[in-house]
Amino acid sequence: MRIRAAVLEEFGSPLQVQEVDLAEPRAGEVLVRLAACGVCHTDLYTASGADPSGYAPTVLGHEGAGRVETVGEGVSSVRPGDHVLTLFSPQCRECDHCRDERTNLCLAIREQQNKGFLPDGTTRLSRAGEPIRHFMGTSTFAEYAVLPEIALAKISPEAPSTEACVFACGLSTGIGAALNTAKVQPGATCAVFGTGLVGLGAVAGCRLAGAERVIAVDLSPERLELARGQGATDVLTAGPTTVDEILEATDGFGADYTFEATGRVDVMRQAVETARMGWGLATVCGVLERVRRSVSSPATSSQVAASPVRPSEASRAVTRCPSSSTAGWQASSTSLR
Ligand SMILES: NC(=O)c1ccc[n+]([C@@H]2O[C@H](COP(=O)([O-])OP(=O)(O)OC[C@H]3O[C@@H](n4cnc5c(N)ncnc54)[C@H](O)[C@@H]3O)[C@@H](O)[C@H]2O)c1
Ligand SMILES: [Zn+2]
Ligand SMILES: [Zn+2]
Repeated sequence: MRIRAAVLEEFGSPLQVQEVDLAEPRAGEVLVRLAACGVCHTDLYTASGADPSGYAPTVLGHEGAGRVETVGEGVSSVRPGDHVLTLFSPQCRECDHCRDERTNLCLAIREQQNKGFLPDGTTRLSRAGEPIRHFMGTSTFAEYAVLPEIALAKISPEAPSTEACVFACGLSTGIGAALNTAKVQPGATCAVFGTGLVGLGAVAGCRLAGAERVIAVDLSPERLELARGQGATDVLTAGPTTVDEILEATDGFGADYTFEATGRVDVMRQAVETARMGWGLATVCGVLERVRRSVSSPATSSQVAASPVRPSEASRAVTRCPSSSTAGWQASSTSLR
């Protein structure tokens, strides 16, 4: 079928909305008609050319919400008409990672997905007979997408697509960082750096966990207002004195939990520097703006005690939005001050 999609033709250039071909879903695959899609910073990161694993042409987008149109052979978990979210990190429920509660970074289709292919090593997207690679296994900046069955989460038909789509990545990354990765305790003081969707999710997660104070930091007053709406008790405009201001606001000790959600190395450092002496925990959600090509180990989350953020490791842990429940990388700040 012919569909309209926003194609990244070249890094650093605007996406071009055009017609492309989308083949029928094969066995184990599903055709989804997209109704809404969020724009995650990771889409922009890849579009900019800074992502060393990026490629073009491709159809970006991974925060999709829509309805199942048709299903391929053997698909049993969804049927036409179901409302779904697209998952860049699928859930096969069988691999080592799916069965381990420490992560949800499914391993089932990872290799082909990273190369831009569906699990059988081919693409459903093409143009004039030339294959176009998929992005993050989703390619949701389009009218329709074909995804593996395990890369769909069924949602309530009552959930409005425009709000639900952000659960496909940004919002659940932030909420998961607070609830699952950091395991914020009731009564805690938290600081969240960056209040895009990931940071807003972290603010909401801290609130849901019963944090007493949530200090939100951003450059944008509008975003700080949104953070207030999600439960931030204090808001700070980011600047050269941010670290001092947070230390001052926390009796010189720092916050129990800090969250970085900008993708900036200097802010990752601030998150570590403002984590409380003794037991503070900094959780890095951001994907680094610059990643060294030599870093090639598979993404995993790791906990590193008493160590400042090492950019290459942080990038390894978070490249490609690794997970919505395991937001990346943590450092305890015990010996930093
Ligand atoms: N770990 C994961 O699974 C995962 C998932 C989604 C996104 N990400 C990454 O998380 C990061 C945030 O994503 P997003 O979609 O929310 O991005 P976004 O661009 O919507 O938001 C980033 C925010 O950071 C703010 N900011 C910039 N510089 C700052 C500074 N010096 N101090 C404080 N705030 C500053 C910006 O004003 C903006 O509001 C990106 O790096 C993205 O690639 C990771
Ligand atoms: Zn994302
Ligand atoms: Zn799995």
